[in-house]
Amino acid sequence: MQTKKIVLPKGFLWGASSSSHQVEGGNKNDWTVWEKKNAKRLAGEAPKKWENWQQGNFPEMFRPENYISGQAVDHYRRFEEDFDLAKELSHNAHRLSLEWSRIEPRKGVFDERALRHYGKVLKALQAKNIEPFVTIWHWTLPLWLSKEGGILAEHFPAYFERLTETVAKRFKKQVRFWITINEPSIVVSNGYLRGAWPPNKKCPREANRAFKNLAMSHNLAYDKIKSIDPTAQAGLANNMIFLEPKYRFCVVDQAIVMAYRHFANERIYKLTAGKHDFLGLNYYFHQKLRFTLKNYNENKEVTDLGWEIYPEGLYRIIKEAVKCAGKKDIPVYITENGLADRSDEKRSGFVLAHLKQTKRAIKEGYNVKGYFYWALTDNFEWDKGFWPRFGLIEIDRNSQARKIRKSALDLKEKVRISK
Ligand code: BGC
Repeated sequence: MQTKKIVLPKGFLWGASSSSHQVEGGNKNDWTVWEKKNAKRLAGEAPKKWENWQQGNFPEMFRPENYISGQAVDHYRRFEEDFDLAKELSHNAHRLSLEWSRIEPRKGVFDERALRHYGKVLKALQAKNIEPFVTIWHWTLPLWLSKEGGILAEHFPAYFERLTETVAKRFKKQVRFWITINEPSIVVSNGYLRGAWPPNKKCPREANRAFKNLAMSHNLAYDKIKSIDPTAQAGLANNMIFLEPKYRFCVVDQAIVMAYRHFANERIYKLTAGKHDFLGLNYYFHQKLRFTLKNYNENKEVTDLGWEIYPEGLYRIIKEAVKCAGKKDIPVYITENGLADRSDEKRSGFVLAHLKQTKRAIKEGYNVKGYFYWALTDNFEWDKGFWPRFGLIEIDRNSQARKIRKSALDLKEKVRISK
């Protein structure tokens, strides 16, 4: 484990992320319906999906209840306690998302109780001097909207704009940083290309339409936020994969990488040009590709999910995204970066290594202003359910008791923000 301290620039935002559906519990949206329908199937597919070591370490993956979000980690009721723990870890910022299905449970009807709840959540952060980064949409849809066609619904962008208007007006005084949409490319590829997530489609034409609808929705939401509060900062969180050809001098491999990079990382910036006050970047993946589209990573070190740990990729994707934005000084926030590591042996070293790459970018003049670890607590990992443990805070699934992991305490010790 690295022992050296990392000093980040004055004003740097340091915290963790979460999303409503993954932590709140008690939701009723397109995912909760999908989970009930697919839990048994997902449990049955685990043996062919995961390696033997993963199956041996995480037998929860064979149980259907692993795939039902249910009460999640009860953050809806325990947010105060969770934010107290974040404060204890010296976090000065926190990323959360609003749950559309709570706020607008029926089309055009906004629920006062839900809005009041999020008002309290934001107030709790404010009271602890923790800066909120608020994601308006992190993938889950109200049932009325999924019935109307979800992202593909003709009026999706208008509905999203109306939601944005409601929350931006309501929380104008409490929120300075808005993230309109989380990872458009991931939600579209899993839902409309790979058929892995709701609505389980495998149709490039629909995927293309869905992607364009999300880009348009972002643009409308950006303008809406700025018209309500010109001082607010708005952007989106883009998943960036660090892609490189397996053979640097093979033109076919290079062409594959270029095409993939365009669709996975960069196309969103073309469709939303000029609508970013900052770049929100989520980084998890490195892929060495060949024309076979197989992954040739060396995988020297991997997470519990088998994802390669490759810190230098963070530095590379910061450069790539800033190049797309065309402004070297555009503020950049790492809105997600983290790993599933139940034994907690790799987490602290992982974060320190990624922060080192962040500093490398800062030294070269990139305006990186914050880093949010994914995630504050263990949570519901979509179609993988609860077994991957990402949290700085461990959650006992039976009692919902919270316990700060030792890696988080180590980071508290080693990460410093200049005064
Ligand atoms: C998503 C999170 C997810 C994380 C780890 C990101 O793509 O935004 O919701 O939990 O990856 O799988």
